[in-house]
Amino acid sequence: MTYPIRRIRSEFPILEQQVNNQPLTYLDSAASAQKPEAVIACESDYYRQGYAAVHRGIHTLSSEATTRMENVRSQAARFINASSANEIIFTKGSTEGINLVANSWGRCFLRPNDNILITEMEHHSNIVPWQMLAEEKQLTLRYIPLLPDGTLNLSRLTALINERTRLFAVTQLSNVLGTLNPLQSLISSVRATSDAVVLIDGAQGIMHQQVDVQALDCDFYVFSGHKLYGPSGIGILYGKKKLLDTMPPWEGGGSMISSVSLSEGTTFNDTPWRFEAGSPNTAGMIGLGAAIDYIEQVGLLNIQAYEQELMRYMLDALQQVPDLTLYGPQDCTGVIAFNLGRHHAYDVGSFLDQYGIAIRTGHHCAMPLMAYFKVPSMCRASLAMYTNHEDINRLVWGLLRVQRLLS
Ligand SMILES: Cc1ncc(COP(=O)(O)O)c(C=O)c1O
Repeated sequence: MTYPIRRIRSEFPILEQQVNNQPLTYLDSAASAQKPEAVIACESDYYRQGYAAVHRGIHTLSSEATTRMENVRSQAARFINASSANEIIFTKGSTEGINLVANSWGRCFLRPNDNILITEMEHHSNIVPWQMLAEEKQLTLRYIPLLPDGTLNLSRLTALINERTRLFAVTQLSNVLGTLNPLQSLISSVRATSDAVVLIDGAQGIMHQQVDVQALDCDFYVFSGHKLYGPSGIGILYGKKKLLDTMPPWEGGGSMISSVSLSEGTTFNDTPWRFEAGSPNTAGMIGLGAAIDYIEQVGLLNIQAYEQELMRYMLDALQQVPDLTLYGPQDCTGVIAFNLGRHHAYDVGSFLDQYGIAIRTGHHCAMPLMAYFKVPSMCRASLAMYTNHEDINRLVWGLLRVQRLLS
């Protein structure tokens, strides 16, 4: 099947915009992806025709909105092959999902001198919550180091795990280098030597790879709606039901209770609602459902094959740019990180922006990774289901121009 790139592009209204009087070349989808009309319309129709508070009212609008929201829970479960919708917790995004695990499971079950294993390539969202927890509970943090090619130094894995390793948290795909981690073999190695709970940060992986949490046998998996062509402010935490059932709530409020008494205290709702205090972002949930529908209609495997071809094209095309340092493995997925000569990434990004070319610049919320490569910042171009060859040609053209202007 030929990938329907023209149709797909026409379904993302923002791609028709001009930025700085230039056609938009959007290569920052790894930070946040653009939204198809189907998602925009679904959210706006919900506000126009179906909006109400959920889980509380007995009136028709409220019960219909509740049904729609709960349907998205089931849809998300199917999307990542969770065994039940009760394993799906709505969050604000990946960051909140990781913080929920740290604050609920971590605070409850970790003891002084336990250790947590993460990697040197993690996004700050998968470092800082563990550092905070480690300080509070006197835990040790261990890191799987990087290799110069941007992959993990797996020869260090066995030495880093012992019987006090209680959690292994790792990204599916590096948001800077595009390194796709070998999750299946990592998880098997960890399980062979410890009882550690495994958390996968799927923020970057979910839009490029089909995920099967049961086949992976991970305990937790997080992702964000806004990177998956859905709304911002909504995400998913998957957790194995038997683990979630042992965890205390981390935020108190409405919806997460069963009963509240001034004299006898509070009893809590069942999993997963126990972890969803307060009025939820129902428009975001419904929009996320529309995004999943949209992706499934194009087919994640088709998107993956298309993006792989596009990445090869980009790697090839970037060879035309002299003095470009590329970081990460040669078979990177979704994103490519680079620096142009000795120019600061901000300068390169600002010049490209003048031509309507949007890339990411800075430390990419991965300062330890910048420290490893001994640079303060990098440029990053990222691909999405709507990126085309012309976007890449314009990036190369822009970089050549910036190079002439800056030198
Ligand atoms: C690998 C990775 N993890 C976590 C996050 C945090 O996601 P969010 O800001 O949507 O919570 C990001 C965002 O860029 C990311 O790339």
